Amino acid sequence: MEMPKLFTILLLIEALFVSQIQVQAGAAPGNSDLFREYIGAEFKNVTFAEVPINRNVEFHFILSFAIDYDTSGTSLTNGDFNIFWDSYNLSPSQVSSIKNAHSNVKVAVSLGGDTVASKYAYFSPSSVDSWVSNAVSSLTRIIKQYHLDGIDIDYEHFHGDSDTFAECIGRLITTLKTNKVISFASIAPFDNDQVQERYLALWRKYGHQIDYVNFQFYAYDKETTVSQFISYFNTQSSNYKGGKVLTSFLSDGSGGLSPANGFFTACERLKSQQRLHGIFVWCADESKANGFRSEKQSQALLACPN
Ligand SMILES: *[C@@H]1O[C@H](CO)[C@@H](O)[C@H](O)[C@H]1NC(C)=O
Repeated sequence: MEMPKLFTILLLIEALFVSQIQVQAGAAPGNSDLFREYIGAEFKNVTFAEVPINRNVEFHFILSFAIDYDTSGTSLTNGDFNIFWDSYNLSPSQVSSIKNAHSNVKVAVSLGGDTVASKYAYFSPSSVDSWVSNAVSSLTRIIKQYHLDGIDIDYEHFHGDSDTFAECIGRLITTLKTNKVISFASIAPFDNDQVQERYLALWRKYGHQIDYVNFQFYAYDKETTVSQFISYFNTQSSNYKGGKVLTSFLSDGSGGLSPANGFFTACERLKSQQRLHGIFVWCADESKANGFRSEKQSQALLACPN
């Protein structure tokens, strides 16, 4: 009689403690079973069908990338996007097939990325109005052609200030949602002053339109420990207050906390605190080499009820 009672009290205390942590960190409460994977940037012939999909998770493929450069990747186009992912292996009909085969799969496109034609890909609008107008029309065409459901913002190099970035991206997301062209949007910042200044300006003004924060935790040091990872997670959850900040790793283990060094331990800890909002991976192209082992483990963890 004594033990169960004490146990119940301990659980209540823990629940109070956990909700207190959430209030402190400003995070959206609750776990989610969302798994997301970038695909197509490296032209290694990876296909949707090769990637293991657990039927008990919500699964997002994120095509990488559409960029507002001309098709040769040398000149800026002020918001007129072209396709730079492996569209031979990741075509409109292959998007339809994978979505028809798995009702839990959605497909998004990521905008920007680190490089184009071996040089930095810049966010460089001529003006807010012209960029938004061009971006809305070119992306609406691509999203409809490829049967896509959402966009991800992954600009990493910038001309122009934070207000311009926030206004362009905020209006783009708002318009695509209002027009029912997309049903979700995410952003993919990392811990760099120029990057954070811009994404936080966007978050302050348009955070209510942004469904997920694909924070690139793998941009931290390769020596990151589990407790450092949790501390980074706390910091970014309070930066992107109220947001669903996802955890992340690199398939090749070259940065951040890798699966080999305790990534899943950190995820389990967050999950026990009701703070695991999902996991994302960069990228399927590289995971192909090891048989998608960590993708399977990630999804099993997310699918497990506790
Ligand atoms: C991708 O497939 C094409 C066509 O089959 C082939 O020529 C190319 O070498 C492949 N690339 C890689 C990286 O496997």
